[in-house]
Amino acid sequence: MNINNELKLYQRSKDSIWTDGYISKNMLAAHLDLDNDAASRNINTINKTIKWIETKIPKNSKVLDLGCGPGLYSSLLSKNGYSITGVDISKCSISYAQNKAIEEGLPISYFCKDYLKEDIGTGYDAVICIYCDFGALIPTEQEILLDKIYNILNDDGVFIFDVFKPGLCDNKKENRDWRYSTGEDFWSSVPHLLLEEVKHFVEQNIWGTKTVIIEKDKKPREYITWDNYYTISKIEKLLNKNKFKLVSTNNNLITENTFASKDVMFVEAKK
Ligand SMILES: C[S@@+](CC[C@H](N)C(=O)[O-])C[C@H]1O[C@@H](n2cnc3c(N)ncnc32)[C@H](O)[C@@H]1O
Repeated sequence: MNINNELKLYQRSKDSIWTDGYISKNMLAAHLDLDNDAASRNINTINKTIKWIETKIPKNSKVLDLGCGPGLYSSLLSKNGYSITGVDISKCSISYAQNKAIEEGLPISYFCKDYLKEDIGTGYDAVICIYCDFGALIPTEQEILLDKIYNILNDDGVFIFDVFKPGLCDNKKENRDWRYSTGEDFWSSVPHLLLEEVKHFVEQNIWGTKTVIIEKDKKPREYITWDNYYTISKIEKLLNKNKFKLVSTNNNLITENTFASKDVMFVEAKK
């Protein structure tokens, strides 16, 4: 890794904020802080979203929660009569979700898997993917995931997800910066330098963020994340290209967001 290199479009890093042993613990804490919108949305928004999802998916349906995190949505849907499978790449989140399901006596099946690379079951009436996770994928990954979802959904199955709209850009600024931390923060338990590059690829409607963590006597770690944003016509084109049809959108579910952007579109798509 050359830390001076500028972030390239759709570049991926070896390290991941979702699977790193230290960061994923802090990520879990952020998911579980239901007052703010980091990692998972605040509890009022989650409840509002669940209500809307339930108008789209009949009770008793078999639902796959993709990127379920600690199971905040899975748990509520299970309590409301849905048959839930949750898949997430974070061991830490899945282990929390599994324990919580046991504690609450909920029959949810949770799996720690990479939904792009591993078997995620089949015969679902619905697949949900919440908090703009679909838009965190680069185009080749989106095609892989859409193809997978198409194949594991029953004939009348529905895919529900949310994406940022162009208003995401209102809260973002291109930037190259660094800071020193004495440690015990989100990124590391020990003193470190943090280098950050935020870049807008205007033509592709995507923001990239590269964070490099440098600790004494260790190899630097690099984390790259992506945020696509969409107009309704762009998302419809992408769905159609991958054999889905756009059924409806909802732009009014998110009225506040303390972390990213409230300019979000929920999408209902069918095969
Ligand atoms: C923004 S969080 C949203 C979590 C949850 N949907 C929520 O809103 O509470 C994105 C989640 O996707 C998971 N994730 C990211 N890439 C994944 C992959 N390739 N396979 C499975 N899970 C993934 C992360 O671990 C994380 O829990």
